Amino acid sequence: MSDPGIGSLTLPGFQTLEWKGDARTGHLSLIDQTLLPSETTSIACQTVDTVWEAIKVLRVRGAPAIGIAAAFGCVIGARTPAAAASTADCFKQLKQAGDHLRTSRPTAVNLFWAIDRMERVAVLALELSPDAFLDRLLAEANAIADEDRHMCRSIGRHGASVIQAGEGILTHCNAGGLATADYGTALACIFSAHEQGIPLQVFVDETRPLLQGARLTAWELQQRGIPATLICDNMAAQVMREGRIQRVIVGADRIAANGDAANKIGTYGVAVLARAHNIPFYVAAPSSTFDLSIPDGSHIPIELRDPKEITHGFGRVTAPAGIAVYNPAFDVTPAELITAIITEHGLIQPVNTASVQARLQQL
Ligand code: MRU
Repeated sequence: MSDPGIGSLTLPGFQTLEWKGDARTGHLSLIDQTLLPSETTSIACQTVDTVWEAIKVLRVRGAPAIGIAAAFGCVIGARTPAAAASTADCFKQLKQAGDHLRTSRPTAVNLFWAIDRMERVAVLALELSPDAFLDRLLAEANAIADEDRHMCRSIGRHGASVIQAGEGILTHCNAGGLATADYGTALACIFSAHEQGIPLQVFVDETRPLLQGARLTAWELQQRGIPATLICDNMAAQVMREGRIQRVIVGADRIAANGDAANKIGTYGVAVLARAHNIPFYVAAPSSTFDLSIPDGSHIPIELRDPKEITHGFGRVTAPAGIAVYNPAFDVTPAELITAIITEHGLIQPVNTASVQARLQQL
């Protein structure tokens, strides 16, 4: 089923997620990414539970996008049906909503960063009337989305500068417009290079088990007319050995103080392969993806997902009943395998605690 308002939009005009209406009665509208690429359909989230569910089952996914969704979820959570409710009541509800939304997915730090930011703003707005309080929260959620748009454009500009004409670029998972407010992080570098007329060829890992590469990245690249070739994850080594890949660019869900970077499961393997083939490996991410409270990647919580994602891929039974399954959704690439981290303020290179700290202090 297609929503004529959003469903018909295609890149670059589509909105991954946006608020519609005012703070008191509006809702979060988002593209249901579980249906892509066959359906471009939006859903309306009117309750905290629908936002939580959308994050949990990956209707909205990608680190920056789930942070933005949670910020709008905080606005919804702060609303109270009682006409006589006070601002303190709204604040209490906001805190409950934030606590609930924090349980949706553990790895992407953007989720926690965005909720913390909403709560800080709320504390400073307690003197306002309930309506003005909600307006302030909505303004902040919209600001988080707007800032993400700007950061992605900057990441794209910086990332494009490392791409040479004629290169083959491998990416893993989806770090495009669908994973952010707009334009993406890893894909932003590719979009920006393409817009500058730099010829390139993108190799897209399909990204087992949920196929974000095949379903989302391949779709985004196609929408923009960028030459793209889909490969199974287990083909990357062969494609590298054949000399088809000159650069790897991926996104991140959480980057520790020393530059270790969590991203979609399989990314670490790609980084090891890139090192073995002497291919530079880049991580593209905004400052909201850094978690300086943890010294290294061993502290990053790795989400374990439903075994059915592996045993019942997209509805088909693909494994014998009762088989044990391990399904971590992310892995951590050690800093020493990362050539540079591309941020909205430029490249972090080499990647280590001192250079991460130096760059983030400038932000
Ligand atoms: O499980 P997902 O689809 O949310 O995983 C997303 C990724 O791993 C992305 O590469 C990452 O969030 C970067 S998004 C700009």
